[in-house]
Amino acid sequence: MSDRPDANAKGADARRSIVRRMAATPSASTPLVTPIQPAVAWRSADADALDDLYLGRAHGYTYAREAHPNADALGAKIDWLEGVTPAMGRGVVAGSGMGALTAMFLGLLKAGDHVVAGDQLYGKSLKLLRHDLPRFGVSATFADPTDARAFAQAIRPETRLILVEVVSNPTLRVADMEGIAALAQAHGALLAVDNTFTTPRAYRPFDHGADIVIHSVTKLLAGHSDATLGWAAATTPERNAAMRDAVMSWGLTPSPFDCWLAERGLHSFDLRFERASANAARLADALAGMKGVAQVLYPGRPDHPDCNRAGDLLQGRFGNMVSFRLKGGRTQANAFLRAASDLPFAPTLGDVATTLSHPASSSHRALSETDRARLGIDEGFIRVSVGIEDADQLIAEFGGAVAAAAQASAGAAAR
Ligand SMILES: Cc1ncc(COP(=O)(O)O)c(C=O)c1O
Repeated sequence: MSDRPDANAKGADARRSIVRRMAATPSASTPLVTPIQPAVAWRSADADALDDLYLGRAHGYTYAREAHPNADALGAKIDWLEGVTPAMGRGVVAGSGMGALTAMFLGLLKAGDHVVAGDQLYGKSLKLLRHDLPRFGVSATFADPTDARAFAQAIRPETRLILVEVVSNPTLRVADMEGIAALAQAHGALLAVDNTFTTPRAYRPFDHGADIVIHSVTKLLAGHSDATLGWAAATTPERNAAMRDAVMSWGLTPSPFDCWLAERGLHSFDLRFERASANAARLADALAGMKGVAQVLYPGRPDHPDCNRAGDLLQGRFGNMVSFRLKGGRTQANAFLRAASDLPFAPTLGDVATTLSHPASSSHRALSETDRARLGIDEGFIRVSVGIEDADQLIAEFGGAVAAAAQASAGAAAR
């Protein structure tokens, strides 16, 4: 005789599927950590209960593309960091930093609108403005963000939005935020600030006249290179609702697991930012003393072209990004990158680990050589996202790699 349960003998009950019949284990206490909720859909008791949700008479969820608890938990924390008050509404979390920018453009602009933007924005933001938005009837003009007069010249009657990054990538120039905010206000244009590099730890755009703040949460806020996310918030509930609606309708939804990882990452954000910034300041000074280095760019150094403005704006929190130019070109850059084998050459920033980037072959490869030269980006230009490692070890690693680059120069000269 078989010892397997006899399905026939037990009748219909034994054949019943357990799919979707598992209930949560009841608990009188609550979990210490936000639970991950990957559910795509939520059950409602009946049609009236669903009405209550859609009409805002009850709080709850229906379908994950529209909203889910992990995005809301993360969003509430970034709202708090950036100073979003209940009167402003709630910021929205998107599936990437580009998703957040897209939600802003789609939610707040219409055909015929014009944008004035910094000419050194993140490469894909420039592409979106130059090549994608024009297909939807939105045009853009680019200007030097370190000079508010250049922005004033770019303004048109139909300018609806001004977009800037406080600290530019990769030359780390500091925007004239005061001048640009005054211009936006005088013209009645919305001021949008991509605060990814600076973070709310160094600069809170809403305290300085911004109407919209954007983040690639992927970077310093999440901090571990394992979650791809964005966030956007505005100063009015209507604008926040319009951006949220764009996330829902255009499918810019974040993954619950990524939101959970980023929420966990945020717990150590302050500590990571302080440590990485202190490391960056030390590394910048050390690089300036190395023979193979032609120039160091760090807003906290007195030789930075915007050091006074950086001092006023960032209150001594100059961030974790350092750029420098090696003496020489591609040969020296390659020798440096190969020798710095403990420092990943990878196209991201804001990780706990230090990462290196070579803008001429990555973020700025779409620019002509002349445009790159205008920005001061040559083949020897290296951008460093400084992590939280031991500073002495980091400086030693850079010292060895810069020496290897100089060695490559000597070898090339001898041949
Ligand atoms: C300043 C800035 N904004 C936006 C983005 C886009 O973010 P994501 O890669 O999360 O889409 C990046 C990406 O590097 C960035 O550096």
